Amino acid sequence: MPGPSDDPLRVASDAAREWLDGLPERPVRPAAGAREMLEVFSEPLPEEGTGAAEVVRDLAARAEPGLMASGSGRFLGWVIGGTLPAAIAADWLVSAWDQNCGMSEPFPATSMIEQVAAGWMLDLLDLPRGASVGFVTGGQTANTTCLAAARNHVLAAHGWDVEAHGLQGAPRVAVLVGAERHDSVDASLRALGLGAATATVVPADDAGRVRPDAVAEAAAAVGGPTIVVLQVGNVNGGAVDPVGEIADAVRRDDLWVHADGAFGLWARAAPARRHMVEGLDRADSWATDAHKWLNTPYDCGVAICAHPTAHRRAMGVRAAYLPVGDDAALRDPIDYNPELSRRARAVPVWAALRHLGRRGVAEMVEGCCRMATLLAGRLAEAEGVEVLHQDLNQAVVRFLDPRGLDDDAHTRAVLAATQAEGTCYPSGTVWRGVGGVRLSVTSWRTGPEDVERSAAALLAAHRA
Ligand SMILES: Cc1ncc(COP(=O)(O)O)c(C=O)c1O
Repeated sequence: MPGPSDDPLRVASDAAREWLDGLPERPVRPAAGAREMLEVFSEPLPEEGTGAAEVVRDLAARAEPGLMASGSGRFLGWVIGGTLPAAIAADWLVSAWDQNCGMSEPFPATSMIEQVAAGWMLDLLDLPRGASVGFVTGGQTANTTCLAAARNHVLAAHGWDVEAHGLQGAPRVAVLVGAERHDSVDASLRALGLGAATATVVPADDAGRVRPDAVAEAAAAVGGPTIVVLQVGNVNGGAVDPVGEIADAVRRDDLWVHADGAFGLWARAAPARRHMVEGLDRADSWATDAHKWLNTPYDCGVAICAHPTAHRRAMGVRAAYLPVGDDAALRDPIDYNPELSRRARAVPVWAALRHLGRRGVAEMVEGCCRMATLLAGRLAEAEGVEVLHQDLNQAVVRFLDPRGLDDDAHTRAVLAATQAEGTCYPSGTVWRGVGGVRLSVTSWRTGPEDVERSAAALLAAHRA
């Protein structure tokens, strides 16, 4: 039997614990940059091997200076979720079990955990209970998966089998997108041959939302097979498109409404935020991320479709050597994902939901929204700070140059100085033509003390 120091799993567990225990107080930014990390790891491919425990010990020690403390309660960048201990631990088991979570017959445990997690997701988010669910790598892949199902559905309504014949010679598929869509939607449109540049862009209001009458008008103008891509949670300010109203206004057999809710969809799980996302269940598909607001580790996105047949036609794979079950009650994950072989990434989703329960998810989502509002409020009280937008767990703020010279440059300087100081880590953006600092509260760890310390750090950089 190896002793503790010879056991790579023990070494990894100790290093992970040390990392997680250090999160509350270590600087949030990495100490070393990418060039330094390249140097730290650059060496010729070794001719001879090294003991497994030594490899893991060395890996943890060398990587540490280049790690971002994105699990910290004061990490406020992009929209990056924290990680619940139950989900991290479940993820370790996923690696140790190493199940190929594609087929339920040879890999029954993880496939059925996934089936249960899929049902729990529909229940929690209150989406049609018969919808199909694919656990994919992230929001972008979830968008691609849902839009592939959409492409199938709207072309099938015109008698065209896109899986068999592709888009060559197919009726034209019109795509409507909001002006403030996430850029990953364009990547999905490119990957699916629908074209990003040819999409009709519907203007957005000051919050970043599209108006139902504008979408309805654009949908009527294009006619034929049509896909409408809406957003639930603007990546900067958190605004939500009125999805239900739009779905009602544009409904046609050859039209599909997709809601990109990478983080905003989780507002459905918080009763106090529910009014913002009411009616959203009337869309045809939804993309979201567990690795954002459910606080599972990377990676886990979720693609949900109200039309399981279209989802399966777009994604399913069959081959003589792949055993797929014939029991309709048992779902084969392979039918809902763009990947064939993959890790059992729904297991941490199951663990997070079992650990938190419906009430715990609601408290976590609501808590993040409250902390974002508190942080924006603290900053707004200070002279020379403008809150450009705040919704859900997001805020965009702007710092006005005390010398009255260049507010964009001053805002960028405040961002850089705050990141470098290390108490918290916001990220930057351009919001409706002006520079801003983005603040995203997406971690179970963020509490009032983190908010006060983050606000103080930002204001110190503003006043310096
Ligand atoms: C609205 C929206 N859609 C899609 C994505 C892409 O998600 P992912 O990074 O998980 O691929 C994001 C990421 O922040 C997002 O905010």
